[in-house]
Amino acid sequence: MAKLSLGLDIGSHQVKLVALSQKGRKLRLDHVGMMPLPAETIVDEELLNSAALVSTLRELLAKTQVRRRETAIALGGRATIIRHIRLPAMSEAELEESLAWEAKQYIPFDLDEVYLDFHMGNIDPETEQMDVILVAAKRTVVDDYCAAVRLAGLRPVVVDTLPFASANTYCHAYPEHFDEVAAVVDLGAHLCTIAVVHRGEVLYSRALEQGSAKLTDALQRQLALPYAQAEAFKTGDVGDGLVPADVQRVLEEASGEIVTELRSLINHHADQGGVALERLFLSGGAANSDALCMSIAREVGLDAARIDPFRSIASMHRGVDKAALASIGCQGSIAFGLAQRSTLDRLQASKDRK
Ligand SMILES: Nc1ncnc2c1ncn2[C@@H]1O[C@H](COP(=O)(O)OP(=O)(O)OP(=O)(O)O)[C@@H](O)[C@H]1O
Ligand SMILES: [Mg+2]
Repeated sequence: MAKLSLGLDIGSHQVKLVALSQKGRKLRLDHVGMMPLPAETIVDEELLNSAALVSTLRELLAKTQVRRRETAIALGGRATIIRHIRLPAMSEAELEESLAWEAKQYIPFDLDEVYLDFHMGNIDPETEQMDVILVAAKRTVVDDYCAAVRLAGLRPVVVDTLPFASANTYCHAYPEHFDEVAAVVDLGAHLCTIAVVHRGEVLYSRALEQGSAKLTDALQRQLALPYAQAEAFKTGDVGDGLVPADVQRVLEEASGEIVTELRSLINHHADQGGVALERLFLSGGAANSDALCMSIAREVGLDAARIDPFRSIASMHRGVDKAALASIGCQGSIAFGLAQRSTLDRLQASKDRK
């Protein structure tokens, strides 16, 4: 069995880890785990407390008994810019050559301060135009994450983007929807990412810099609750304890604001004349909330399905922690997508391109 990269989804709330092996097209799950990060370790995708991340990573690696070193990570918030553009059809070498020039027009960052990458999509034979996705990621942020990952004893070989990692998981787990247009939405603590996927290609992607932490904040502020209590009320983790009547109202108000913003981002592509959405798939910790999923589904006007990243796994290593697998669920979607990446060194490729 060929080993793939270790998928590490370093979120602002929790680090999620998935390791897979591959035989032919079949995937085996080798390791899975998740560990919370201390508050303020990562804020607005900036690594503020590298030591806290390193020790969390070390603890997670020890707990999951991972020995693999090659790792894929992802960014997708304000440290990255993803642009979907159309260009006259050209070869990869030609695009590579004109990359900096194209990027200047579309990327609102100083190009000396970013790593650049691109993905070539479909070519329309009638217009001879091709879809291209340009990605720029701030060097300082990428370098900080990679340094922390190295200090934890790993070797970062792929830096992907969050919506692409989500899309990757969705395509593997739901091949029966290949021909349909799906919005694949990951709902995190401070960041929600959207990928509109059709026939294995990401047609459109967006990020909303808000997430489930906003609901906890609203409960803390409006009902004067400590963090742990607000988080427990939000996640329904209260056992037989009584939940104050106001909790529901505050949660509905705060999620209403997120849902409205998400709706316009999810539907933006279709509203701009793009192909209409047929499916809605949700992942991330906040997708554990039935109320939130139903409310997004209602706004978007489609049924919502929670992603089961592990649905199409052919087999499982006997050492996989079943409790960890059950608890990670849809929250493991991005780590799963990253774990599918081969150890192609795209970061190095982008450094060489500079
Ligand atoms: N049942 C639930 N209902 C609502 N929210 C939940 C539930 N379970 C977990 N969450 C929330 O999900 C969030 C964590 O999800 P996730 O691990 O996807 O975030 P993250 O990747 O660390 O953050 P981000 O991607 O935003 O940086 C937390 O805010 C947590 O409170
Ligand atoms: Mg996340």
